[in-house]
Amino acid sequence: VVVAGRGRRGARTVRDLARVALVRAPRGPLLSRLASGILDAAFEASSPLPCLPPPASAGRDLLVVPAPGAVAPGNQSIEGVACLVALAEATRAERIFEIGTYNGLTALALAANLPHVRIDTLDLPPDLVPELPLAESDELHLSRAASRRYEGRPEADRITQHLGDSARFDFSPFAGAIDLVYVDGAHSREYVENDTNAAFRMVKPDGAIVWDDYSRLVPDVPALLHGLAGVPLHRVRSTRLVVWLGGELRRRLQAGTLW
Ligand SMILES: C[S@@+](CC[C@H](N)C(=O)[O-])C[C@H]1O[C@@H](n2cnc3c(N)ncnc32)[C@H](O)[C@@H]1O
Repeated sequence: VVVAGRGRRGARTVRDLARVALVRAPRGPLLSRLASGILDAAFEASSPLPCLPPPASAGRDLLVVPAPGAVAPGNQSIEGVACLVALAEATRAERIFEIGTYNGLTALALAANLPHVRIDTLDLPPDLVPELPLAESDELHLSRAASRRYEGRPEADRITQHLGDSARFDFSPFAGAIDLVYVDGAHSREYVENDTNAAFRMVKPDGAIVWDDYSRLVPDVPALLHGLAGVPLHRVRSTRLVVWLGGELRRRLQAGTLW
């Protein structure tokens, strides 16, 4: 049995898929882990997006990542944090904008790894009803948190929390000023489109944009990203991230010197 797709990975055997499945879904009954891993692998195999080369360590020996017990459902994975840090380094980032603070753990990890970076991060205020429709999974991860993980830590001096609905937030003070935009707010088509437009307004010409939740389980994200005609995008293996690279980074990618 093979899963054939349009992706760069071509066809894979059941043994490959089962191995990937068990790594991806380390908990739960064996059969459902296998089934979910096989569906994930089939999604990847059919993706039209090419993969970025795996992020290199850019000369760094250490990476600060969230402790396993601190990671909540909805937080970025450790591989995802590593990729965000590598991209921030590739853009020589001074400013990052995150849409979707949640518990602040990813903002904290980015600030801890990137001591010269300032992070602006946007989330809904506690009682605001979002203006646009939400995806089903968004209800589970709406942050109504009274505090964020970075509060009280030295990194907090470089993190600015903004409260608002991304559909109404005034992004204009950030226009063309952000090196790395991380889009991880609501995941309905309407919000991904709204936040994608905001990201392209904020990002510097040589910056980068990263979307989370490129997954079969969050169908509006791949649907919207696949529909961005003429916008070169890459996915990042072993994560749910998709990346757009600005001009200089694209040239480096083609020359094999991105990382
Ligand atoms: C998946 S969590 C973000 C996880 C976080 N970026 C991380 O890496 O750990 C999604 C966040 O987006 C926020 N959110 C949802 N809709 C939003 C909106 N319309 N405007 C701003 N934030 C929104 C939610 O409250 C939630 O905290």
